[in-house]
Amino acid sequence: MEPSVVLAKLPKLLDLNADNITENVHLINSKNPDVRSKYIMERLVHHLHEFARDTRLSTDEWMAGIQFLTETGKICDDERQEMVLLSDTLGLSLLVDSIDHPKPDGSTEGTVLGPFHTHNLPEKANGDKIMHNDPDGTPVLVVCTVKDVNEQPIKGVRIEIWETDSTGSYDVQRTDHSVPDGRCFMISDHNGAFWFKGVVPVSYPIPHDGPVGKMLKMLSRHPWRPAHLHFILSRPGYDRLITALYLKGDTYETSDAVFGVKSSLLIDLSQADESLAKKYDVKVGTKVIKYDFVLVSEQESLELRAKNSKEALELLGHKVKIINGLPVPDID
Ligand SMILES: [Fe+2]
Repeated sequence: MEPSVVLAKLPKLLDLNADNITENVHLINSKNPDVRSKYIMERLVHHLHEFARDTRLSTDEWMAGIQFLTETGKICDDERQEMVLLSDTLGLSLLVDSIDHPKPDGSTEGTVLGPFHTHNLPEKANGDKIMHNDPDGTPVLVVCTVKDVNEQPIKGVRIEIWETDSTGSYDVQRTDHSVPDGRCFMISDHNGAFWFKGVVPVSYPIPHDGPVGKMLKMLSRHPWRPAHLHFILSRPGYDRLITALYLKGDTYETSDAVFGVKSSLLIDLSQADESLAKKYDVKVGTKVIKYDFVLVSEQESLELRAKNSKEALELLGHKVKIINGLPVPDID
């Protein structure tokens, strides 16, 4: 739409008030030629304004929110991502992953990435140790496969893995940290298998000495996460799977500070018997985690996401079409 046309439709600037400000902002934003970002901004403004109307937001409260977001941004650096933590603790990260990476029955569910993923990862071979600087850690053998929904093994999958040490700290949180530890990437073999030696993960508090910690305290919430191991599985042609495995029975299993636990991702610790110990070169009695990951094809995931989007938005009364896999208003 031409700027002159938009301007002609605007209410008089002197007359803006709680009743017509939203329409005014929608109109002045409507010049955006990108249909998806135009739709996102229209909905963002709608919900932000409704939030202020719903709560009868005071100026002091609005400023407190601005200050909180400013502090949250300021504390971020290359290794601390407080914004992701905020998203995680408000349940937004889990929500976005569920919408963007729907998983059909029989495939492995995704969960939150968390704030401690890094791109600086050493490659490890099957059977390698991934944790070196943790003498008090309880050794664990992790034995996994990667298959498709038809139970066919997938070779050549890149698997990123990261975990805490036995004190509940990731390498990037430790003052003696100089090289990556407790994290790596591996490639699944021709049987879709991968295995490594780590330490039994423990529950740990998310960083709570910053703005997010203050928010949790205000909400009378604890900052703890149940013990888990993180994984990202990716291979061209398959929907990238960001997930984690959680030790069943953890104290925080049902109150994870970042809402990541799903029952399909709960695992039991077993122990290596003689044959397993011999096969994987560990001591008899070593703790063992076994899990079979199931990946969905990229195409199936895209189709499911488009179907879910149309159904969900039609239920809300929005007529949409799917462009580049994402919904936009169907106004043509
Ligand atoms: Fe974690």
